[in-house]
Amino acid sequence: MKGLILSGGKGTRLYPLTYTSAKQLIPVANKPVLFRVIEAIRDAGITDIGIVVGDTAEEIKAAVGRGGRWGIAITYIPQDQPLGLAHAVKVSRDFLGDERFVMFLGDNVIQGGISELIGQFAESEWNSQIVLTRVSQPEQYGVAELDDSGRIVQLIEKPKDPPSDLALVGIYMFDHHIHEATESIAPSWRGELEITDAIQWLVDHDYRVYPYVHRGWWIDTGAPSAMLEANGLVLEELTPTVEGYVDRDSEVDSRVTVEKEAEIVNSVVRGPTIIGERTRIVNSYVGPFTSIYHDVVVKDSEIERTIVLEHTQIHSIPARIQDSIIGRHVSLTRSPIKPKAYKLTLGDHSQVGIL
Ligand code: DAU
Repeated sequence: MKGLILSGGKGTRLYPLTYTSAKQLIPVANKPVLFRVIEAIRDAGITDIGIVVGDTAEEIKAAVGRGGRWGIAITYIPQDQPLGLAHAVKVSRDFLGDERFVMFLGDNVIQGGISELIGQFAESEWNSQIVLTRVSQPEQYGVAELDDSGRIVQLIEKPKDPPSDLALVGIYMFDHHIHEATESIAPSWRGELEITDAIQWLVDHDYRVYPYVHRGWWIDTGAPSAMLEANGLVLEELTPTVEGYVDRDSEVDSRVTVEKEAEIVNSVVRGPTIIGERTRIVNSYVGPFTSIYHDVVVKDSEIERTIVLEHTQIHSIPARIQDSIIGRHVSLTRSPIKPKAYKLTLGDHSQVGIL
């Protein structure tokens, strides 16, 4: 079996973080979401993985490389424009050949391994397997309607009036019949070739599509609040380790991970939380559900339920920073210079809540 990861697209809901960088590279518990997806596929024993890339191709290639560090081979597949998930399958035709494959959306995080599921499909006679989960706002997803015996009746992409609360999770398994389907469907109202329509085509043509209902959590990290939620959930599952330095005046509880060469000085850190490599926390409070990536400095400040990206500096902030995502190379400081005023250089679409 082969693996296909979709990592094109624009990530507009995560602006300004994704103006210049790929949304799939934003870290959750200090590991880019895309790396978590690669590891999930690798753990199912798949070593030949294609990654569909768009505008952010160079950044993704630089971060992921050829796959050697995971013991797998990665092939990059360019997609000129994000014309839909089924379009991404079309442009991957040469890479996929006639093999069975698992397709993963590069910005989804799912609880627990899916190795067993992929293994089952590899051995089965099914033409496709889809993963469903119950959600509270099905109109935001592809939705499946099942009959009493659990068979698929229909699949609809982002329906105004959802027939059920079963959303399509961003994990799909196919055999080569999907290629006939992607050639046969037309673009949807949003101008995309929808994978949901391609799967409906398989159902309509009597191919066997097996729906598996996932019971753990699953998050599409497309929006900031979802990113923070995924961060909290992954942090809760992390086995904490302390490889960095914690001084005697600090209080760090047992659910905190301190990565190599990190330093915690005269501070309180409450888990689940992760402090990245070479990051320094000085005279500060870091509260639960916080991920601070590498080479960051937090000094004389308080921070909680937040993701901080690499090389950022946070100094002497008078109020607690909470429920925030702070980008790379950001400088957030209290300035002694008069007049007393907010002095801001914020990118387009930044969101700042001031006391
Ligand atoms: O997250 C699950 C949902 O994903 C499913 O319930 C929907 O049925 C499915 O259509 C999809 O909906 P989204 O509208 O959320 O997909 P999005 O545009 O966010 O794209 C998902 C990923 O695929 C993202 O990592 C970008 C990548 N992508 C997207 C498109 C449209 C590509 O690589 N190429 C593309 O052409």
